[in-house]
Amino acid sequence: MTYIPAETRYDQMIYNRCGKTGLKLPAISLGLWHNFGDDTPHQTKQAILHTAFDLGITHFDIANNYGPPAGSAETAFGRIMAEDFRDLRDEMIISSKAGYHMWNGPYGEWGSRKYLVASCDQSLKRTGLEYFDIFYSHRFDPDTPLEETMGALDYIVRSGRALYAGISSYNSQRTREAAAILKDLGTPCIIHQPSYNILNRWVETDGLKETLGDLGMGSIAFVPLAQGMLTNKYLKGIPNGSRASQGKSLDPGVLTDHAVASLNKLNDLAASRGQTLAQMALAWVLRDGGITSALIGASKPEQVIDCVGALANLSFTAAELAEIDRISLERDINLWAKSSSD
Ligand SMILES: NC(=O)c1ccc[n+]([C@@H]2O[C@H](COP(=O)([O-])OP(=O)(O)OC[C@H]3O[C@@H](n4cnc5c(N)ncnc54)[C@H](OP(=O)(O)O)[C@@H]3O)[C@@H](O)[C@H]2O)c1
Repeated sequence: MTYIPAETRYDQMIYNRCGKTGLKLPAISLGLWHNFGDDTPHQTKQAILHTAFDLGITHFDIANNYGPPAGSAETAFGRIMAEDFRDLRDEMIISSKAGYHMWNGPYGEWGSRKYLVASCDQSLKRTGLEYFDIFYSHRFDPDTPLEETMGALDYIVRSGRALYAGISSYNSQRTREAAAILKDLGTPCIIHQPSYNILNRWVETDGLKETLGDLGMGSIAFVPLAQGMLTNKYLKGIPNGSRASQGKSLDPGVLTDHAVASLNKLNDLAASRGQTLAQMALAWVLRDGGITSALIGASKPEQVIDCVGALANLSFTAAELAEIDRISLERDINLWAKSSSD
């Protein structure tokens, strides 16, 4: 069936300027880390992407290693681009990244020029795209000179493989260094992709959020729902089919009785605001304008619809924010803390 995008797709979404650049990103973006590999039916992937685009989500985030198996999310996205979205490329911002393990041997991960350029070429081939809008260094590499990693991003942009450069999970100090190198090279670093949610606030304690403001860089927060913990999914334990039940990236061990009790308290607070917990969690990430976009994942179109509903109320009273802090600051779940602070 031919996909026809909704005419209303730009009616509801908020578009925020990415730092001091000319690029605007939707306040909610969609990532393909989970649910776009070979373990998910094609029709489900189509339905999620169609729903997202119909709601004004113009930004889709991928990486070389998304699957399973690694690479299959890019292949699936490429098929949907070719079959459903082929006339819509100019309405979309598509990003990919390289940094994590992708192939065997010394050139298959981290931050060398050899790896980043080869990986970008492989990602372009899998997606069938001529260019990415944003290409990221997925993680800081302590063993490669930062000049080399940033030089590779500069080359990727100058050679037409990407329009903009970004970094992910770099701490505040590394971000300043990376931005300075890219500025000297003439390819500004326009965006940072850190983990950030009510339960994981390293971007505040590390000073990264402030640094991004100083540098005029945009930001896109990944795992804004703490992989589903900040939704109605785990309020009564771990349901079948959920990410925590699948032996994937969400360790069921973090869903202790105490954590579930805290999530229920947050859910009550969300209900008092007329929101679902997912909606309140996204509103919290976007609450002060310091974050350009919240980068969600979804296993069903209904989840995307619920998440976009967050935009109806992005403001909080001081009492609500204090209550969120009181409930949540006992817990600190930061799966990316190590790479962020290297
Ligand atoms: N740069 C990096 O190093 C990095 C690392 C990780 C992720 N990312 C990016 O961030 C994106 C998002 O990551 P994520 O998927 O972990 O984000 P998330 O938004 O925190 O979690 C998404 C999961 O939450 C559940 N969910 C979403 N909306 C819901 C709703 N309205 N109601 C109930 N449940 C809902 C679903 O779980 P179920 O699947 O259980 O239904 C969904 O798969 C990734 O796709 C990727 O693009 C980047």
